[in-house]
Amino acid sequence: YIGHETLPRKNSHGFELTDPIAFAPLKQMVEASAGKTWSGGPIVDGIAGKADLAVLNPATGEVVGHTANTDAALIDKAFTSAAEHQRAWNRLGGEARAKILDKVADLYEQHLNELVAMICREAGRTLNDGISEVREAVDFCRYYANGARQHFGEPTILPGPTGESNELSLCGRGVFVCISPWNFPLAIFTGQVVAALAAGNAVLAKPAEQTPLIAARAVQLMHEAGIPQKVLHLITGTGAAIGKPLLDHPRVAGVAFTGSTETAKHINMQLAAKDGPIVPLIAETGGQNVMIVDSTALPEQVVDDVIQSAFLSAGQRCSALRVLCVQDVIADNLLNMLKGACEELVLGDPSKLETDIGPVIDEKALGLLEKHRERMSSEANPLFAFDENKRPQHGTFFGPQVVEITDINLLKREVFGPFLHVVRFKAEELEDVIHSINATGYGLTFGLHSRIEGRAGAIFKRIDAGNCYINRDMVGAVVGVNPFGGMGLSGTGPKAGGPHYLFRFANEKTKTVNT
Ligand code: SER
Repeated sequence: YIGHETLPRKNSHGFELTDPIAFAPLKQMVEASAGKTWSGGPIVDGIAGKADLAVLNPATGEVVGHTANTDAALIDKAFTSAAEHQRAWNRLGGEARAKILDKVADLYEQHLNELVAMICREAGRTLNDGISEVREAVDFCRYYANGARQHFGEPTILPGPTGESNELSLCGRGVFVCISPWNFPLAIFTGQVVAALAAGNAVLAKPAEQTPLIAARAVQLMHEAGIPQKVLHLITGTGAAIGKPLLDHPRVAGVAFTGSTETAKHINMQLAAKDGPIVPLIAETGGQNVMIVDSTALPEQVVDDVIQSAFLSAGQRCSALRVLCVQDVIADNLLNMLKGACEELVLGDPSKLETDIGPVIDEKALGLLEKHRERMSSEANPLFAFDENKRPQHGTFFGPQVVEITDINLLKREVFGPFLHVVRFKAEELEDVIHSINATGYGLTFGLHSRIEGRAGAIFKRIDAGNCYINRDMVGAVVGVNPFGGMGLSGTGPKAGGPHYLFRFANEKTKTVNT
């Protein structure tokens, strides 16, 4: 069975933002897009519908466009059309589908500046994050295209007794529903959709209600590349309005979901209760991600990696660092350096190169962070609080915070934003720290800074986390290089951008012939 890539793999390349010549086209595009509004509809046979729901720019509160609340009748129509056309898409075979997905990657690269400008204005992501995100989306297309070539073409020949031939082949399951989040509005949206398509499924894609416009543009480019409108449908609107018709439909053959643990559990129950086939749920959810720093770590490198992991992308990555566990003997020195670095962070307009931290996604996210800050003001020791005078007047901005707590498990839920918690430990308490990390029940990312020989290997074996990063930051998994995804409360696997991802989107068929 499967597993390792045999086809050459090349990741998408970026460019140096500080080089004025390389940066000029993006700068122009971002400036030209200021004040512009986009429409997420109508897409018609690839569905969506009349665009009348406003979408806001989190950095300014201004309307950046409108999207549809695709109604239940249109969703039903999308399922019927998808089911009807899925077989032909599946019969095309892995190679033909791969060619189309490679074309999607090429189109994304050609439209990089436009896509980055949209990500920046609709999701409030910085230019740096926007570029990384388009590159990740491109990588997903090419990586899963290669997976389709490798595993969805010729069947695998299996041994059998004399007079019998056996082969195993993979095919699409039917209609997949892909539900993606706002924090990677292009990359995760694309990754799910492209994986489902690569495996021979038709798709109903439902982006987060905060970021449907970039998703609509992605779908247009996918259709332009040659994915039939009747195979890929865009469904937009609020989860409350469209969640039920989308998940209760008897045609649902599988669901890929990235979002909160609570919603994943809810979807699982809904799928178990619905009519139609028993379907898999591929869920990628949150984390309570911890980094352990022992007394042998390099403090300068730790500070850099903590800033990157906890605060950049406004802490709005499921991989982001939430709890820093520092050995007591180096804690004062390290925390002092960290405080100095935090003071340098620039909160503000995500379209400006000097900005480190853009807004959080919306008022609700801001309210949850403010509530957590309020709770921490009585339960934790403050170490760093962003100067509120430097916070932009408009938009949903939340300045970085660092507090010291006594125990990881004081935090019951994921705090999704630039909020770091610190726990000190004594050398003899390392075992307890590992135990507490596993006791959170989450298992997404984990970091370790240590130069003690053998420690990384020993801790890696005992930590229940999907992605363990040693002596580096703990965000920004690269497709095909750092397959990404967690366990326990953090998700079901398989890992996105990993060699086993496509198989969960497929059915397996064995053909046995008495020759
Ligand atoms: N894949 C992202 C990262 O590694 C998180 O979703 O940071």
